[in-house]
Amino acid sequence: MPGQSDTPYLDALRAYAARNPGRFHVPGHEGGAAADPGLIEAFGERVFSLDIPALTYGIDVGDEPTPFLEAQGLAADAWGARRTWWLVNGASQGNHVALLALGHSGQRVVTQRNAHSSTIDALIMSGLRPTFVSPELDPELHIAHCMTPEALDRALAETPEAAGATVVSPTYFGAVADVAGLAEVTHAHGVPLVVDEAWGAHLGFHEDLPAPALSLGADLVISSTHKVVGSLTQSAMIHLGHGELIEEGVVGRCVTLVESTSPNSLLFGSLDAARRSAATRGRELVGETLVALARTRDAVREIPGLDVLDERLAGAPGVFDYDPLRLAIDVRGTRMSGYELSRRLREEHDVLMELAGENVMVAVYGMGEDAGAASERLLAGLRAAVEAASADTRVAEGVQLAPPPPWGELVMTPREAFLGPQEVVAAREAVGRVAAESLAAYPPGIPNVLPGERLTSETLDYIEQTIAHGGSLRGASDRALRTLRVVVE
Ligand SMILES: Cc1ncc(COP(=O)(O)O)c(C=O)c1O
Repeated sequence: MPGQSDTPYLDALRAYAARNPGRFHVPGHEGGAAADPGLIEAFGERVFSLDIPALTYGIDVGDEPTPFLEAQGLAADAWGARRTWWLVNGASQGNHVALLALGHSGQRVVTQRNAHSSTIDALIMSGLRPTFVSPELDPELHIAHCMTPEALDRALAETPEAAGATVVSPTYFGAVADVAGLAEVTHAHGVPLVVDEAWGAHLGFHEDLPAPALSLGADLVISSTHKVVGSLTQSAMIHLGHGELIEEGVVGRCVTLVESTSPNSLLFGSLDAARRSAATRGRELVGETLVALARTRDAVREIPGLDVLDERLAGAPGVFDYDPLRLAIDVRGTRMSGYELSRRLREEHDVLMELAGENVMVAVYGMGEDAGAASERLLAGLRAAVEAASADTRVAEGVQLAPPPPWGELVMTPREAFLGPQEVVAAREAVGRVAAESLAAYPPGIPNVLPGERLTSETLDYIEQTIAHGGSLRGASDRALRTLRVVVE
């Protein structure tokens, strides 16, 4: 039996490439023989020899357990799951799978309002009717934190037919929800808890990190392995918990429904290796990164006008704990927005941030990188950019915005609105119509409008004001909000 130090899938790929069999199957680059020479030069020959199709004997078909099944079993053990499936379309695919799975046991779901767009897409795919719950808003930072167990309880009481609930934890900014409390609430209502833990694949690998959702009673957990744990972009996992509220077979058929019939072997191989690394060296790697990041936080706070988000946030509404493997920088004291500071970092220092918002910017560190060395570059860029900006009289004070108005009534499911008859109208004529698209003004990025909701003049005014003050609009077909796609009723 292979153990956590082994990589059965990656080894099987390597054995296939070393054997150099007659390849009369896809992909048509035929192990590199038919690939563009420039591409071979860029990628290296091995990429092509290891890029093999699904249903290859000795890898994912043949005597069971195949290396593919063994490797996913090791991933399940490493993350503490009853069963784990590898995904090749990111955590986005995980969210699609989760809602399609819940759709097997009902037509309604309780969903965090600012869920990732893939969850909204999953509502469209599954046809589920959502009861939305607002996350807690940070009144100073103007960012959204997590959903509280009390808010979830109220929504489930309002939605007795709900098939389950979906929440996000950690957030982009590192806030972690009271997952144990949320699981207790959903289980008291007799339904499963899905946690979008896209940003928390590393949580189980060091005791100084917040506990992972699966260990706290979550029933299904979506994990974007590529974000922090080091597998290739697009590779992710979905983990089934040990409860009985979601059937294993149902998750399996939903994974297949939204998966290519040609999943990429390089992505799978990278998941196998990332799992080995996390399981065997995760504690040591995270430990080193945490020490370096603590030093980086201190250094950021010494730069005039900058502060960081950290464990001081824990205990604020919607923040149960904080993930110290994230560097979220509070820029409010610099007179610059996060957009402006990140632009200066990019243009003047070639330093690229993961996310920039009005008040906060986020830098992502990989679990195993030399965070101390990486931070030197970031800190040098920050010091220089902040100093240059402090001498620049054109830098204007940021405008603080009012909280968004309540979202409109949901008059049809997101699926009905997305797929039904629709037309494009001028934004002013859209008041009272039902939206066929999403509108989310940043900051704070909580969708103001989702497909199926009636548009109100308050919401459209709010979005216009946000855009006028330099904010942005996501999800819309016209990001300047001149026109809107609405349902023909
Ligand atoms: C909370 C959350 N869920 C899901 C996703 C989708 O992840 P992926 O890019 O792996 O599809 C993201 C991406 O940023 C995310 O922030």
